[in-house]
Amino acid sequence: MILLDGKIASASVKAQVQTSVESLISQGKRAPHLVAILIGNNGASETYVASKAKNCEMVGIKSTVHRLNEETSEKELADLVTELNDDKNVDGILVQLPLPAHINENNIINLIHPDKDVDGFSPLNTGRMILGQECFIPATPYGIMLLLEHYHIETLGKHAVVLGRSNIVGRPISVLLSQNKPYANCTVTVCHSRSNNLGNICSEADILIAAIGIPGYVKPHMVKEGAVVVDVGITRVEDASKKSGFSIKGDVDFEEVAAKCSYITPVPGGVGLMTIAALLKNTLQAFNKANP
Ligand code: GUN
Repeated sequence: MILLDGKIASASVKAQVQTSVESLISQGKRAPHLVAILIGNNGASETYVASKAKNCEMVGIKSTVHRLNEETSEKELADLVTELNDDKNVDGILVQLPLPAHINENNIINLIHPDKDVDGFSPLNTGRMILGQECFIPATPYGIMLLLEHYHIETLGKHAVVLGRSNIVGRPISVLLSQNKPYANCTVTVCHSRSNNLGNICSEADILIAAIGIPGYVKPHMVKEGAVVVDVGITRVEDASKKSGFSIKGDVDFEEVAAKCSYITPVPGGVGLMTIAALLKNTLQAFNKANP
């Protein structure tokens, strides 16, 4: 079993981004600028946004975080997004999800200018991705593709099973894995919590992408001997032995499953780190498009 180490692969991606940013600065250009909007007090979202900002700083990308309280109205949020759309010194806009229940997520996502939509969630970027056109690819699936490429995982003719159908991970990764490209040439099955014989379907996967959001869900009987397993889950689970009071668990029962795999991602230290690296790449791409 070989670990698909997000620390190593993300360091390589981040080093490339950093070199590109340094080159921009040496040409007298400004640094790319990512703006994140965080609403309310969701602990996990707080952690993700802090980590995104810290990683921006590490590679020379400027980041600004707007923290809005839980009661912020949809109109107030929409006004902020519009202001950022019009700001020539902002390259990427990221509205951290989930939003409070009184705000319609689609309305906000649809408002972000597609050229600044570094999350790749807008209908235009989604459509472009499906058509194989230049676009922003959502950071988590993009990060998974970069990880497969880093470790030279063969996909040609392989059967990939995607467990989960979310707009953020399951749907886009199923599209990306079936493109006619190196490291993206699979036959793909998408299954989810309502699929019959879920375990059997998973156990036929050469490459299993677990993105169902249930900690420890994938057990050994669901994994083929020699499979490549990519664990997208990042759930906080109560853990009195930790200072924070929780630990982070993936969707795969790593201890039980790892021995059956040819490759497997750890949690933490796998896909989560790749997500951030991919976001940095998207922010640089947004800058380059706006400043040719
Ligand atoms: N919430 C969970 N994942 C993501 C992500 O990739 N982007 C944003 N904006 N919110 C998220």
